[in-house]
Amino acid sequence: MVCTGKDMALAAQLIREGKLVAFPTETVYGLGADAFNAATVARVFETKERPSFDPLIVHISSIDQLDELFLGPIDPRVYKLAEAFWPGPLTIVHNKQPHVPDLVTSGLSTVAVRMPSHPMALELIRQSGKAVAAPSANKFGCLSPTKAEHVIKQLKTIDYVLDGGATTIGVESTVVSVSEAGVKILRHGAIIREAIANVVDVIDEKDKVDTQGLPAPGMIKSHYSPLKPLYILKEGIPETLPAGSGIIVNDARVMPHLPEVKNMALSQDGDLNEMAVNLFATLHAMEDDEQVREIYIQPVEEKGIGRAIMDRLRKASYNYQK
Ligand code: TXA
Ligand code: MG
Repeated sequence: MVCTGKDMALAAQLIREGKLVAFPTETVYGLGADAFNAATVARVFETKERPSFDPLIVHISSIDQLDELFLGPIDPRVYKLAEAFWPGPLTIVHNKQPHVPDLVTSGLSTVAVRMPSHPMALELIRQSGKAVAAPSANKFGCLSPTKAEHVIKQLKTIDYVLDGGATTIGVESTVVSVSEAGVKILRHGAIIREAIANVVDVIDEKDKVDTQGLPAPGMIKSHYSPLKPLYILKEGIPETLPAGSGIIVNDARVMPHLPEVKNMALSQDGDLNEMAVNLFATLHAMEDDEQVREIYIQPVEEKGIGRAIMDRLRKASYNYQK
C-alpha cells in the first residue's frame, strides 16, 4: 500500500533520503526524485517502466538553481521565458552542466527544467533543498494522473504520495528548446504557442529534430493511452453506439445520453480550459468502469490549449483508428 497524505516535512525528507515521492503540480502529478542521485533516478525509470531514451524534467523552486543545471553562458532567451512564465507550466530545454546525470537526460547534451507554480510543489522542492527530477507519475504510455488516486492506481511501489487534490490545468507543461537554432516547441501544453511567440521568436515546428540531429524526445506516437480502445469521433456525435461503449463529448449541452452507454462531457459549456482540466480524469473514469469496453471521444477545436488536448488525444488513440 502506498502511503498518501499532506505531510510536507516527511515528503521533503524522503526526497533528501533518495526516495520516490509523487506530488501535485498545476499540470499533472509528478514522480519526484533527487535529480543528482543517479540510483534514485534509475528507480524512477524502473517504476514507470519508462524507456531510458526518454529524458526527465528537473523541477526547481528558485531561479538560482538554474546555474547548477544549465551550462553557461545561459542564452538570454532562457531568462526572458523564465521571467514571463515561471513559476508555471513551461519547460525549458537548454545545454546541461556536465555533472547533471546522463540518466536524467538520456545522454543528451541538454536538460529540461521547469519551475512549477503549484504551492505544494514549490514548497516540496524548497524544503528538500534539491533539484527534483519528475516525470508524470504514471506508467509509461498510460493516462497521466491529475489526482492522487490516479497515481496510486498505477504506481504501487513508490514511497509517498503528497496529496494536493485535483490539479488545476490538467495537461502537461509546454516543452520548448532554446538553442542556437532558435526556440522550438517540442511538446504543446498549457502555455500556448502565441503566448511564447509574444516573448521570443518561435521557429517552425515542422522540423522536429534536435540540434544533435536526433528525433526530439516527446515525439513518441502512442502515449497517454487508456487500457481500452479509444477512438476519436471524426464524423460528429453518433446516434447510436454498441452497448458497453463510453462516449466523451466536449460540451455537456450536446451530451447524447445514449442507452447502455456511459455518457460523459469534458466541460459544462464548451470552455477549452475546463476540457483540459477534466481530460485525464474523464478518461480514467472510463478506464475504471468495468461496463465500458471501448471509448469514443469528440475532437476539440485546435486553438489555444485545444492543441495540447488534441496532441494527447491523437497519441492516446494512435493504436485505434477507424
Ligand atoms: O507538466 C509537466 O511537464 C509534468 C509535471 C510533472 O511537471 N511532467 C511531465 O514529464 O510531463 P514527462 O516525463 O511525462 O514528460 C517530459 C517530456 C518528455 O516528452 C521528454 O521527452 C521531454 O519532456 N524532455 C525531457 N528532457 C528533454 C530534453 N533534454 N530534450 C528534449 N525533450 C526533453
Ligand atoms: Mg508523461
